[in-house]
Amino acid sequence: MKKCLVCDHDYEPFMSFGQMPIANGFLSKENFNIEYFFEMEVAFCNNCKMFQLVNIPEREKMFNENYAFFSGTSKNMAMHFEKFSSHVLTDYIGDKKDPFIVEIGSNDGIMLQNFAKKGIRHLGIEPSENVAMVAREKGINTIVEFFDKTLAEKIVAENGQADAFIAANVMCHIPYIKSIVEGIKYLVKPDGIVMFEDPYLGNVIQQTTYDQIYDEHTFLYSLHSIKYLFNLFDLELIDIEPQETHGGSMRYVIAHKGVKEISINVSRHLELEKELGLDRPETYEQFKLNCENSKKSLLKIINGIRKEGKRIVGYAATSKSTTIMNFCGITKEHLDYICDTTPIKQNKFSPGAHIPVKPHEEFQKDYPEYALLFGYNHSKEIMDKEQAFIKQGGKWITYTPKIEII
Ligand code: SAH
Ligand code: TMP
Ligand code: ZN
Repeated sequence: MKKCLVCDHDYEPFMSFGQMPIANGFLSKENFNIEYFFEMEVAFCNNCKMFQLVNIPEREKMFNENYAFFSGTSKNMAMHFEKFSSHVLTDYIGDKKDPFIVEIGSNDGIMLQNFAKKGIRHLGIEPSENVAMVAREKGINTIVEFFDKTLAEKIVAENGQADAFIAANVMCHIPYIKSIVEGIKYLVKPDGIVMFEDPYLGNVIQQTTYDQIYDEHTFLYSLHSIKYLFNLFDLELIDIEPQETHGGSMRYVIAHKGVKEISINVSRHLELEKELGLDRPETYEQFKLNCENSKKSLLKIINGIRKEGKRIVGYAATSKSTTIMNFCGITKEHLDYICDTTPIKQNKFSPGAHIPVKPHEEFQKDYPEYALLFGYNHSKEIMDKEQAFIKQGGKWITYTPKIEII
């Protein structure tokens, strides 16, 4: 029996995706034999309703000076965070004097640059040194540390409390989440606001997007589990805003208990989650079957194309694609290579499956017949850019929202 990371109750994992490498652990040939793998099992805690990974690699294995994910690679995400920051300022900061904004997982400064430009007092907390340095070069105040309760105390001692605590795609990364929420409770002013967003469990269950599950995603949150978690520290969920980013995310707005009005959106969406069955173990048994069926259908399409002798290239070496390739058993036999715009990933090999990662220019030089769209969460941006590939007859293989060739 294992214990829930949030409420300590016993649980049984409902599924294993098998041996998985570090999702962002792009590597060179010399390191193939020392690559780290863990068994990627998942569990649903029926007490606190938290969906979680059972085995979690050490944080330094994932977040370090070689972190491969630079937020700024997507223009759409830059626009998204510009809107996020305006929303914080307009709706929650207003005319407060000298506001102080803290962001964790601030990466290369994609969000905080919007506050820095306006001369607003801000602090980014980013443990992966290489991405943090990019932010610092842009003039964004950043400390290279992991956030937790102890760091929150240090920040308050040096800067005072924060008016807003913000985060995107990082709260779900942190197994010691209770120390984070305790830190937030300490850090945020009595009338301050907490706003963060993460991939949403509801989308994963509805669309069988199991590729949201990988080493960094310790949790997939729902309103049910977030409500439980923050309630442990006298914080409450006051609003939610569904987002289209990363294949379906949820933005949570949280305040100190009893201070702010609770939007009707919260109770409405909790009801929706019950209709979806997010609060019940049977839903996850069905999810397991859906994942296995999805794997079979994708392999059928890919194997069919390969039998005809046609070429397939993976498009964008996303973290999510590591789960797809390793769970489905996609190898060099299936994909010639994966093209990606991130220099740190190029000329390395994909985690686990060891498929070469090449610059995007390779793709443009010699189009394959098919491209497997790993970067589906950026599909609009990619389709706009790849009109020439499409016009000369290139086809996309997609696996979300549907497994099909388009
Ligand atoms: N917010 C950005 C980056 C998300 S990636 C975006 O949405 O695009 C997650 C980031 O969180 C990584 O840069 C990682 O180094 C950082 N991170 C991981 N654990 C953390 C912790 N305990 N405190 C602060 N940042 C953390
Ligand atoms: P993400 O899905 O984790 O955000 O990662 C996006 C990856 O996709 C990143 O490695 C960059 C890559 N990418 C491309 O190669 N081409 C593109 O047009 C876009 C938008 C992203
Ligand atoms: Zn629990």
